[in-house]
Amino acid sequence: MYRKLERNDLCWCGSGKKYKKCHEAFDDKIMAAQEAGHLVPGRELLKLPDQIAGIRESSKINVAVLDYVAEHICVGISTEEIDRWVYRITTEMGGIPAPLNYEGFPKSVCTSINEEVCHGIPDENRILKEGDIINVDVSTIYKGYYSDSSRMFIIGKTDPEKEKLVRVVKECVEKGLDQVKPWGFLGDMAEAVHTHAEANGYSVVREIGGHGVGLAFHEDPWVGYLGKRGTGMLLVPGMIFTIEPMVNMGKADIYQDEENGWTIYTEDGLPSAQWEIMVLVTEDGHEVLAW
Ligand code: MF3
Ligand code: CO
Repeated sequence: MYRKLERNDLCWCGSGKKYKKCHEAFDDKIMAAQEAGHLVPGRELLKLPDQIAGIRESSKINVAVLDYVAEHICVGISTEEIDRWVYRITTEMGGIPAPLNYEGFPKSVCTSINEEVCHGIPDENRILKEGDIINVDVSTIYKGYYSDSSRMFIIGKTDPEKEKLVRVVKECVEKGLDQVKPWGFLGDMAEAVHTHAEANGYSVVREIGGHGVGLAFHEDPWVGYLGKRGTGMLLVPGMIFTIEPMVNMGKADIYQDEENGWTIYTEDGLPSAQWEIMVLVTEDGHEVLAW
């Protein structure tokens, strides 16, 4: 339950100002939405300015790592090579790859090729070939602050169908992002994402979504893409979450690798693509922290 302070108390945000001169009106808006039946973020999900500064620094490493991958990825390398790059660049910049040993994940990055939906494990024997499409999902811890983003890469030249899938999923994220603004709802974003995917004949993976991020790898809220406008959690300045839809060329159904316990595949064997950005809700819109 969202609770107000006494009007003359010091504000919860650490500004040193009295509550009535700081976040009281802000809290009133959140409580009005809650009373109208909306899900609202707890105060622990609203990042304070120095936390945002730390998360921004972490995000810079994440973006630099993906930029390095973008420059060097090519036909003939192994996904293990990508893992080595991610580990080296992240640690050179003072960060720690968040996936490494996360719930037993054995590598520093997820590399998911073609019909692999997500959580592909880098492997010396998995060699990138002409026409592959691959998602490289990078996450960083820096001074305790977390960042998370992923991009698709087309290896050499691929067929027009796979190229279109990669492009359309990027557009899904952009259309979702356009909807991120304070006092809107997560469902506004979700509706924009799934509408564009479905208009192109694709399906959105239901079981796996985005998440709050910053002080931990995976925070509330869970971020799905099947929601409707005006539903889902209220968007409030200071929230940070990922938009990372997994979109399948064929059916939405997926299954998990029984041997490695991680990798998710499309049930029908058709390709899947995903882009992930990390966004901060600001007073007047949003700021993309990592991409
Ligand atoms: N980076 C993924 C995400 O977007 C999480 C991967 S968990 C891991 O949330 F352990 F596989 F790395
Ligand atoms: Co994520």
